[in-house]
Amino acid sequence: MKMKIAVFSTKSYDQHYFEKYNQDYDFNFSFFETNLHADTANLTDGFDVVCVFVNDIVDEKTIEILSNNGVGLIALRCAGFNNVDIESAKKHEIKVVRVPTYSPEAVAEHAMALILTLNRKTHKAYNRVREGNFSLKNLIGFNVHKKTVGVIGTGQIGATFCKVIKGFGCRIIAFDISENSELKELGIEYLSLEGVFKQADIISLHCPLNENTKHIIDKASIATMKEGVMIINTSRGALINTPDAIDGLTNKKIGYLGIDVYEQEENLFFEDLSERIIQDELILRLMSFPNVLITSHQAFFTKEAMVEITTTTLENIHAFAKSKALENEVK
Ligand code: NAI
Repeated sequence: MKMKIAVFSTKSYDQHYFEKYNQDYDFNFSFFETNLHADTANLTDGFDVVCVFVNDIVDEKTIEILSNNGVGLIALRCAGFNNVDIESAKKHEIKVVRVPTYSPEAVAEHAMALILTLNRKTHKAYNRVREGNFSLKNLIGFNVHKKTVGVIGTGQIGATFCKVIKGFGCRIIAFDISENSELKELGIEYLSLEGVFKQADIISLHCPLNENTKHIIDKASIATMKEGVMIINTSRGALINTPDAIDGLTNKKIGYLGIDVYEQEENLFFEDLSERIIQDELILRLMSFPNVLITSHQAFFTKEAMVEITTTTLENIHAFAKSKALENEVK
């Protein structure tokens, strides 16, 4: 019998890639636009597998409903799994798999894009020139060359980011709970978290969201940073305490903020809200700063990454269907 898979938070591009690569597997996919959460979990009745993304809320209540509906596998089509209650899944004997690495380059290169755009203001120059305004006023940037770049989390993405930015001739300092010897050989210096905050001109966050990293950027840590620091977050929104970052921007301690993720993003990101009245006061305040650049969780979004995400997810489901060992299980 064909595996029945309910895909939540589906966008046209998800459906496109799943349908294209499913030809090799012949699973029975149903695509739902809605997020998965406790109120939509009843849609999973009769499905073997749910496939979810970053903003689906797979909490205890949702998992209970999945279990009652006979779902045996939660297949995350992303790397982070902070939105799934792993303990509850275990309790209900539902397996959880993810796509641990699909393209660290995609995210690292997007972090670099945020740095260069914020710094050299190409987004503003583009609009100016289209309007016939060829002035350079306020477009001045700085050389990334010789700046000190602080990297928090040197796993797959952080390590790739180190290698990318090394090409600019920066001093790279890093903090991680476990050090990467390959990076040390490349000249990356590991410091304490406080040391990185204190010395870095640019800070890029690449650690996962967990109880130790939640609001790692807050009033206290911002106070220790360099005047005019650039902070880049392509990891998870809740690494930054947004009201504290807004204070830091208002008092000019933070010189630039580039974020691809936002703590309350589930109500905003991935949707066209251009004709709606946005109710989120914090994002509206962030959008009002000339030195803040926001992208809506697109760092992963390259063709190469989509192929990897799709094929790994299909392989994860295939292994489950064949009762094989789950290589990418989250335990
Ligand atoms: P990874 O698991 O390879 O690396 C994470 C690193 O963070 C590890 O080296 C780990 O030791 C370190 N770490 C753990 N706790 C830490 C702490 N308290 N302080 C400092 N470092 C700590 O993960 P990967 O693939 O590099 O991804 C990193 C994060 O990027 C993911 O957790 C995910 O949230 C985010 N991400 C964002 C995407 C986007 O589109 N914006 C796409 C993919 C991932």
